[in-house]
Amino acid sequence: MNPIIKKIAVLTSGGDAPGMNAAIRAVVRTSSYHNLECVGVYRGYEGLIEGDFTPLNARSVKNIINRGGTFLKSARSQRFRTKEGRQQAYENLQKENIDALVAIGGDGTFAGAIVFNEEHDFPIVGMPGTIDNDINGTDFTIGYDTALNTVVEAIDKIRDTANSHNRLFLVEVMGRDAGDIALNAGIGAGAEEILIPEQDMGRDRLVASLKRSKKAGKSSSIVVVAEGDQIGKNILGLADYIRENLQEYEVKVTVLGHIQRGGSPSCYDRVLASRLGVSAVDALLDGKRDIMVGIMHNKIVQVPFAESIKGDNHIDLDLIRVADITSV
Ligand code: F6P
Repeated sequence: MNPIIKKIAVLTSGGDAPGMNAAIRAVVRTSSYHNLECVGVYRGYEGLIEGDFTPLNARSVKNIINRGGTFLKSARSQRFRTKEGRQQAYENLQKENIDALVAIGGDGTFAGAIVFNEEHDFPIVGMPGTIDNDINGTDFTIGYDTALNTVVEAIDKIRDTANSHNRLFLVEVMGRDAGDIALNAGIGAGAEEILIPEQDMGRDRLVASLKRSKKAGKSSSIVVVAEGDQIGKNILGLADYIRENLQEYEVKVTVLGHIQRGGSPSCYDRVLASRLGVSAVDALLDGKRDIMVGIMHNKIVQVPFAESIKGDNHIDLDLIRVADITSV
């Protein structure tokens, strides 16, 4: 155990994700278990810069495991990208006698943590919290499972009306740089086609494939489009293109948007957040820093921040095959 750490701060940063409250709760209660002081930071790195802190104890995090969003709030801090902003954040941490930080967020959060540690030699352990599942070194990020369930539920409803009217629906889902939500929710919801940033399908192949499935007897179709997909980026333009080249269908567009980020976390996300929260504090006490705690093959792992944000998203190619085969 590292005797230097007596007081830990916790923050949530970047896009919020269901399960972030469960993650904060686990960090606070693990701190309490080890008799450490714990402080919450509001609005991610913004709150660090402004010194917007609140003391937390085991009771402050009661009744939040089931709540979506993050009670500490979140932000994408531009000021933390500046040296001056980070210096201010460091001074506030010093003023509060905070020895270490748990940062819950995605790649932007971890990129900020790397620079901060380089400049100020400050212990930070990260927890992957984003619906996108686009972090290396962890099979799952907190919030992803809940978002998948939200998307599948929404597409099930769209299917009812698509089928009643023999329509084709383009359904845009989140995933700026990653197709994990589109691919898995697409398979789970039985989509005919799935467009993801990792694979450029091209508009013509899409239309040809939709024509084939129409000929094969399908009366309606669901196409799931990740927001970061090349041809799906302009989803209204894509809908126009399909209308021009596939007159057999009436084409509608639904953008699911931020409903994917809200809602009560699934049991999987609550358990994941709890396991990672305990591991994050344990790692700090073990003298670890500059790492993210993640989950691989259902085992907790520690991954250097630099590895976690490498950006080569690990789409399972076998899933693409499953999607193709099961949508004939
Ligand atoms: O990073 C998670 C995410 O939900 C992305 O899928 C999406 O592109 C982005 O956040 C939206 O961010 P904002 O809420 O800031 O518009």
